[in-house]
Amino acid sequence: MLTNPSELLTRNIEQLENQRVMLINIEADELGYSLTRHCTEVAALALDFNHFQAQPRGKNGFRCEFGHQWSRDEKFDVVVVYFPKAKSLAPYLFALAAWHLHPDGTLLITGENKGGIKSVDKLLGSAFSPASKIDNARHCLLYSATLIAEATKPTAEDWVSRYRLSLPGGDIQICNMVGVFSDKQLDQGTALLLDNLPRLEGRVLDFGCGAGVIAIALMQQNPELQLECVDINAMALLSCELSLKANGMQAKVYASDGLAQTEGLFNAIVSNPPFHDGLSSTTDIATRFVADSYKQLQKGGDWQIVANRHLPYSDTIAKVFGEVNTVAENNKYKVYANKKR
Ligand SMILES: C[S@@+](CC[C@H](N)C(=O)[O-])C[C@H]1O[C@@H](n2cnc3c(N)ncnc32)[C@H](O)[C@@H]1O
Repeated sequence: MLTNPSELLTRNIEQLENQRVMLINIEADELGYSLTRHCTEVAALALDFNHFQAQPRGKNGFRCEFGHQWSRDEKFDVVVVYFPKAKSLAPYLFALAAWHLHPDGTLLITGENKGGIKSVDKLLGSAFSPASKIDNARHCLLYSATLIAEATKPTAEDWVSRYRLSLPGGDIQICNMVGVFSDKQLDQGTALLLDNLPRLEGRVLDFGCGAGVIAIALMQQNPELQLECVDINAMALLSCELSLKANGMQAKVYASDGLAQTEGLFNAIVSNPPFHDGLSSTTDIATRFVADSYKQLQKGGDWQIVANRHLPYSDTIAKVFGEVNTVAENNKYKVYANKKR
C-alpha cells in the first residue's frame, strides 16, 4: 500500500528512472524499496521513527536512516521531498535537499493539497529555480525545481530558535528546531503541567519530550533523576538534546513510537501527550499511551499528564489506573494524575 504522495510519484516514475535518488521525509510505505527496481541507487531519510520502522531495510541495496540529517555528505541526481505536515519544516527539508543534489540536480516535491504544498515557491529558498507543477492526482500535487546555486550543509545552529523561561529553580533556555511542537514559546498546556509538577525520584520518563521543556524542569527540581526522554520525531530529539546541553543537564534521549522502544519499569511518567497524527486530531495515541504507561509504571509510581480539557481522557485514565485525579485545570487544560497530590 502506498500513500497518496507516493502514488503520485509512481505515476511519474520516468523522473526517477536510472537516477541516483534520495527521498527525504519518507512516509510509512514501501515506495523507497520498490524504487530500487527503477533507480541506480535509493537512499531514504525518515524524520518520523514510525515511518523508519515501516521500511524494509538492507534489501536490494536500499539504504534508509532515521534522523534529522543523512549521515554522509553524498550527492544525488534527484532528491524527493515529501512535503511535511509541519509546514515550517519545509524550508529545512529543501535546504537538506539542496545540499544532497549535484549542480543542476532535480528536486521533486510531493504532498497533499491540504498540507500547504501550494505555497512551495515561497518556501523553496534561493538555491532552486521556481517550482513547476508536473502532476496532480489523489488530492496531491507534484512539483519540480532545479538546483541553480551552490548549497552549504544545513547546521542545527541555522535552524534552531531559542527562548528563555523563568522557572522556580531559575531561568532555563529551550532550543526548538524548526517544525517542533510549540516553536518559539512555551505551550499553555505544558505551562500548567510545569506549575503543578510533583517532585520526582528515580527513573523517570518524559514521553513525547518535544524540545525538552518538561525534561529540563524535572532535572532542575532534582538533578539526581535518571531521566529518559522519548519522541517519534527526529527534530524533537535533536531539540531536546540541544536544550539539555544548553542547560548543562544530561538525560537519555532516544526515539520511540509510543512506549515501544522503552524498556523496564519507571518510577514516574510525565507527559504532554500528542493529540495529532499527521494532519488529523486523534486520541488513539493518547489512549494507547495511558494503557502502555500503566504497564511500565512501578507499583506506587507517579503518573501525570496535561491534556486539552475537551479530550476524553478521564474515563480512560479511570479505567486503566482505577482512579483519576484532576490536579489542576483552567479554561483550556486539565492536569491528570493517578494519585491525589
Ligand atoms: C504535545 S507535544 C509535547 C512536547 C513537549 N513535551 C512540550 O510539552 O512542549 C507531543 C510530542 O509527542 C511527540 N509524539 C507524537 N507521536 C508520538 C508517538 N507515537 N510516540 C512518541 N512521541 C510522539 C511529538 O513529536 C511531540 O513532540
